Amino acid sequence: IRVDWDAVTAEKNGFDHFMLKEVYEQPKAYRETMLGRISEDHKKIVLPDLKLTEEQIKNIKNIQIIACGTAYHAGLVGRTMIEQLARIPVETDVASEYRYRSPIVNSDTLVIVVSQSGETADTLAALREAQANGAHVLAITNVVGSSIARDANDVLATLAGPEIAVASTKAYSSQLIAFALFSLYLAQVRGTQTEETIANIIAAMQALPEQVEQMLDQADTIKEYAEQISTHKNLFFIGRGVDYAVAQEGSLKLKEISYIHSEAYAAGELKHGTLALIEEGIPVIALATQEDVLEKTVSNIKEVKARGADVMVITHEENVATLLKSVDQAYAIPKTLPILTPTLAVVPLQLLAYYASLALGLDVDKPRNLAKSVTVE
Ligand code: AGP
Repeated sequence: IRVDWDAVTAEKNGFDHFMLKEVYEQPKAYRETMLGRISEDHKKIVLPDLKLTEEQIKNIKNIQIIACGTAYHAGLVGRTMIEQLARIPVETDVASEYRYRSPIVNSDTLVIVVSQSGETADTLAALREAQANGAHVLAITNVVGSSIARDANDVLATLAGPEIAVASTKAYSSQLIAFALFSLYLAQVRGTQTEETIANIIAAMQALPEQVEQMLDQADTIKEYAEQISTHKNLFFIGRGVDYAVAQEGSLKLKEISYIHSEAYAAGELKHGTLALIEEGIPVIALATQEDVLEKTVSNIKEVKARGADVMVITHEENVATLLKSVDQAYAIPKTLPILTPTLAVVPLQLLAYYASLALGLDVDKPRNLAKSVTVE
């Protein structure tokens, strides 16, 4: 008998790395995070464990989202979701900055801390700072017994299952699902969206797991592109709105495990300095999934193209033919509502980072200088 697996590979379920396994677990993580939080008629969000009362929700004056790294990037998308759906002003900040800038926070503020591990020192300290000032703190976390979960006033758990790879993937995308659920809940209680809109968003959310599966079936396209970019020292990600937030996450993922230097820019901001760095052959990954700013993004794409950049665009199928007139390559993600696109657009970027790291022969799951959980300042 030939046994070609050991305890570690068995845990990886046949995948070469935990990161890849976790990327492929996203459809399941989305389903689990939604489970029991949508009414049987698919028309409402139900969050029975939430201690925050409807009265408190109606009285929220502002929201602050605090987190580090990838969780912070989820918070950037969360900000847009809450502002658009519940019309409450939201700020998103990194925990290590928030706690030292004497934040204006009081009992009218809802503070949302986001943390996969629930043990990140800066996020925990920010939570305590907010509570000391009278804020109600809701934790979006993947570890229910963690310090952050214990100290927070409320917990909205992401049910992504254990995440082992240092690079966060399924935890991030499940945080987006948690934000979508919570934003809809706020909208429902505050009456800022019609029942029909809420039901439509719920229907679109329920389609996401299958749409992620579709993308995972085409991972080879991204693998080829990752091999191409792995020989470069620098590259750029650009996007507008939630595409910019996803660009920031794509850039961090790539830096973290492939050690390729990359920057994410708000597409409209390039001409205020960074355009000077665009030279012949530099790869630019442009996210163009937001129809309302598509034309603007296309004109930013033309700006980099005119300076010699090699542009790959991530967009919807219907835009591919037109965009291919201005770019070198295109990758189509399945169609969903604009506010939910980050839950899909991040997948090719996770695969890109993974395959670039693999092509460079690096330690995908344990990149140098980094730890899974940062429990020191
Ligand atoms: C993600 O790929 C990173 N390893 C890192 O940015 C991480 O998201 C950050 O340290 C926050 O961790 P947490 O979610 O456990 O608080």
